[in-house]
Amino acid sequence: MVDDPERARSRMRELVDSISHHDERYYLEDSPEITDFEYDQLFTELKSLEAKFPDLVLPESPTQRVSGKPLDRFPQVEHRAAMLSLDNCYSPEELREFDSRIRKWLGSESVEYVAELKIDGLGIALLYEDGVLVRGATRGDGLIGEDVTSNIKTIRSIPLRLNRESGLSTVEVRGEVFMPIAGLNELNLTREKAGEPPFANTRNAAAGSLRQLDPKIAASRPLDVLLYTFSYSTDAIPSTQDACLESMRNAGLRVSPHTIKFSSIDDVLDHIDAWESKRESLGYDIDGIVVKVNSLSQQERLGHTAKNPRWAIAYKYPPKQRVTRLLDVAFQVGRTGALTPVAYLDPIEIGGVTVSRATLHNEDEMKRKGLMIGDFVLVERAGEVIPQVVRPLVERRTGDEREIVVQKVCPVCGSDAVREDGESVRRCVNASCPAQVKERLAHFCSRGAMDIEGAGPALIDQLVDAGLVKDVSDLYNLTEQALLSLDGIADKSARNIISAIRDSTDRDFERVLYALGIRHVGRTTAVALTDAFGSMERLLSSDIDGLSKTEGVGAVVAGALRDFLDNPENGHLIERLAEAGLKMERTGKVEGPLSGKVFLFTGELKALSREDAGELVEALGGRSSSTVSKSTDYVVVGENPGSKFEKAKKLRKTILSEDEFLRMVGK
Ligand code: IVH
Repeated sequence: MVDDPERARSRMRELVDSISHHDERYYLEDSPEITDFEYDQLFTELKSLEAKFPDLVLPESPTQRVSGKPLDRFPQVEHRAAMLSLDNCYSPEELREFDSRIRKWLGSESVEYVAELKIDGLGIALLYEDGVLVRGATRGDGLIGEDVTSNIKTIRSIPLRLNRESGLSTVEVRGEVFMPIAGLNELNLTREKAGEPPFANTRNAAAGSLRQLDPKIAASRPLDVLLYTFSYSTDAIPSTQDACLESMRNAGLRVSPHTIKFSSIDDVLDHIDAWESKRESLGYDIDGIVVKVNSLSQQERLGHTAKNPRWAIAYKYPPKQRVTRLLDVAFQVGRTGALTPVAYLDPIEIGGVTVSRATLHNEDEMKRKGLMIGDFVLVERAGEVIPQVVRPLVERRTGDEREIVVQKVCPVCGSDAVREDGESVRRCVNASCPAQVKERLAHFCSRGAMDIEGAGPALIDQLVDAGLVKDVSDLYNLTEQALLSLDGIADKSARNIISAIRDSTDRDFERVLYALGIRHVGRTTAVALTDAFGSMERLLSSDIDGLSKTEGVGAVVAGALRDFLDNPENGHLIERLAEAGLKMERTGKVEGPLSGKVFLFTGELKALSREDAGELVEALGGRSSSTVSKSTDYVVVGENPGSKFEKAKKLRKTILSEDEFLRMVGK
């Protein structure tokens, strides 16, 4: 470790540069040059130097991506130049009119266009001073936006410093922050598991995430960025839009690779046509194509109206809507007993995806739409990942349609389904309802919770239906014999499941707390509660007031938590889980070079036993597990490895020999 401040300063500079180089390779170019482990080592070295020399921390240090306390509100930012919006058009004729207008204004000059994707996210402005990112602001009303710098910094594809060779130092660039579709799907799954409403589309999710007052939450959201314009610069910038994009790319800023230059509007129209279906495979939502005059001097002469530039137009794609038949409405029972109406549709393809079901959200929403079974309905996937029923086509009714009967009993267990005053949902009152039990188990076993490999929906269905599991604590009393009585479970899988369940007793308290499936208690809240209270005992003895004063926990969460803890059934459940060996208090987490890494050992090791190897990993902050799963990072292979080795190869895990492992841990 470096002791001398001067040497520390230069080593920190070196590490910051090297990490930002590797970030660029990883996040922008998708071609990393070093392993995750080597990257983590650079990061760990930087963190320890910064801990030792806090005054020397560089503002563009990657450790500063998630920093700062939650804010009460965002400061306002007055934009240097207004962030205008774009004029829209919806047909080839309208685009040709745009082209004629441009050509008329520019007289005999030749015109080039660039066609860019219109990213469906939210507009942002990033300010770099002397090459360092100093501010990120939302568009707001175009004149005044919000300073969301701490959230912007958490987006890994946004460089904290521009490449030195780019020659750019003080610039403002504008672009779009968005959430990839896969990111939204994953986020929505976790939200639903925590009893939180899912985001309806990627744009709402991106906006909701960027406007989080707590940067830690923003950091957990999968946001990305694409930039498309310089809005201010002290340095000379190129004279055309396509060259500006290239210059941004050279500076390390993320720019769409799908921008193309055209000299005729017919070619632009062909391009627009082609992208209407190509957009399905992008992985993020676009809602059109932006057509811009390429020359910046022509742009300047064309100028703008009060709202829109005259040199650009957005060609908007029609929303992805189609008509189909509503065949039936069924009520699904969630983990908290909530009954959600689901529309069953005559399967139909919308934008490359076959849709046969759509959520109707809740009873009120369903009634508001005035649907009847047998109706022709308009179904939409406009940026929405979850298909929506827009409205019934009342004019196509024949008189044979039937009213939708709202269930007052649970469709699974037949108990009363009650709607409390002020609630928008009806809930099955029977906490032992098999549907609820299954949902709770699925949440408990899921990756973000107790991470029990092999305990998927099929096994859970069987366990509950066979009466082997009535609540999550029964998992810990299961035996191999009991599992063997189930269809399709052979010796080996029974053994693996039991060992995965046993492994799960090692999970930290915050995971246990999250796994309980308390309404509104997602992963982040569970971490906040663990930080503040440290143990189940202290949580049990805290009143609503104490709970709601906790950072990151409001009155709603506090109420839900107290309700859960006050229910004697849940009290007994917690006791049984504690008896099964689950952690009921925070364990001193070891931070080390292996923090967050999961190892699996298979085969016979020479230098040490598997138990000792596991302990070594834990002493360095990592975790060892007995099954190869999605969360396994490294598989260490000794002599005569078994099927886990095969599985690891199939799952393309990083395989280490015993020697490589020993070198990694410095032995
Ligand atoms: S140029 C002067 N280019 O769409 C206007 N905007 O509806 C500068 N957008 O506010 C905008 N992709 O947030 C431009 N390739 C792109 C875009 C784009 C998405 C957003 C932007 C703008 C909104 C207008």
